[in-house]
Amino acid sequence: MPDAAGRAVHPLLNLDLWTAGLPSDALPERGMDPDDAYRAIDWEMALDGDPRRNLATFVTTWMEPQAERLVAENLHRNAIDRAEYAQTAEIERRVLRILAGLYHAPAGVQPMGARCGGSSEAVMLGALAMKWRWRAARERAGRPAGRPNLVYGGDVHVVWDKFCRYFDVEPRKVPLARDRYTVGPQDIAPHVDEHTIGVAAVVGTTFTGHNDDVAGIDALLRERRAATGHDVPIHVDAASGGFVTPFTDPGHLWDFRLEQVRSINVSGHKFGLVYPGIGWLVLRERGELPEDLVFYENYLGELDETFTLNFSTGAAMVLAQYYNLIRFGREGYVAVNRAMRAVADHLADAIDAMDAFHVVRGEPRLPLVPWTVDEGEPFTAHDVADRLARLRGWMVPAYSLPPDAEDVTLLRVVVKENLTRVMADQFLADLQTAVDGLRKRAAGAQAPPPERRRVHQGTGY
Ligand SMILES: Cc1ncc(COP(=O)(O)O)c(C=O)c1O
Repeated sequence: MPDAAGRAVHPLLNLDLWTAGLPSDALPERGMDPDDAYRAIDWEMALDGDPRRNLATFVTTWMEPQAERLVAENLHRNAIDRAEYAQTAEIERRVLRILAGLYHAPAGVQPMGARCGGSSEAVMLGALAMKWRWRAARERAGRPAGRPNLVYGGDVHVVWDKFCRYFDVEPRKVPLARDRYTVGPQDIAPHVDEHTIGVAAVVGTTFTGHNDDVAGIDALLRERRAATGHDVPIHVDAASGGFVTPFTDPGHLWDFRLEQVRSINVSGHKFGLVYPGIGWLVLRERGELPEDLVFYENYLGELDETFTLNFSTGAAMVLAQYYNLIRFGREGYVAVNRAMRAVADHLADAIDAMDAFHVVRGEPRLPLVPWTVDEGEPFTAHDVADRLARLRGWMVPAYSLPPDAEDVTLLRVVVKENLTRVMADQFLADLQTAVDGLRKRAAGAQAPPPERRRVHQGTGY
């Protein structure tokens, strides 16, 4: 008779796990052997897509073994315990100072910022600071607050709509157009008024990887300030671009070199090359942070100030971010960006050369390739995404653009550090196979079975 774990039949595997499901609705009365629990969850993960073939995500799917070791050795460290983990807090401050320098915070001022779970939290905090500053300015001027609004283009990530709903701000979202996927001063100008708490501009949009015209918006808002005295700040959402543009296009003006840019968010877990979830809010200077958004407490033994939405959070990714900054340096980030760009350019040229597709071009941009299916093709972008998944497990999103460009559907590949030229060439071959198969299917011919993965017949060592 097998014991309760079925091990009398099989020394390693609990056969019960093969035949019974796992608890999924209620806490089980009895636990299980740790190896069994590990194996059960590990095997279930095989049902997920392989992160290395996830060309949809912007988020890091590979880090160096030394970084992984640092992460693994510090999983038990809570970043908020600054009294107990003072050195972790010091490393967090170093990262913020390095980022402030990278984004050209003015010399001689005290930069300020916050470690966050990702760009979404950083956006919420940056936008809250704008709301608070606007309200204080209204009070100082003795004017009724009224309903605040925030101006941004339709090219923003959903987090900006979330902020407006969660924190009761009117979203003034400028529609895109069929051939215009970013915004500039001419789009923003009609929507700014005395109730505007700020303008959100994107550096590296989620949709096409391009930039809003931050310098143009800055000039518009400076002129407005001179004419009306109303100081409208810009928050730059550089979730992706904040770790790309400084290295690929250092002369491009989008950061604190522009006067109206008062806060910037960046995701460490995107092109900062760190695993999820880490993001950063960087303020131009300490004075940009309204004092009543900072909370002081001494639960952990020392008086500490916090400006975060969450309290406890892992410190491992903070250390991993610092690891990358000192391990790569500017030269390293430039080199990694150059490599990603080379693969992205290769993909873009090859996809454009296929007679089924058109690549959406533009500068500056992230290392990603967005493209459309030509009109007249007998298949949709969604068909292509499905085929690619079936052929080799490639994860490529098909998505429509926001209003008023919603009739444009794009496919997109995000080139990350671990997408090599060999993988890109195989992807291109699979894309061509997908197109051929879809055309044959449409022509009524029987499409050949999907190409089987060739199993390498090892020749021995
Ligand atoms: C432009 C932009 N802003 C904000 C976000 C949200 O970032 P996170 O996932 O780090 O919260 C994203 C995510 O893709 C993004 O692309």
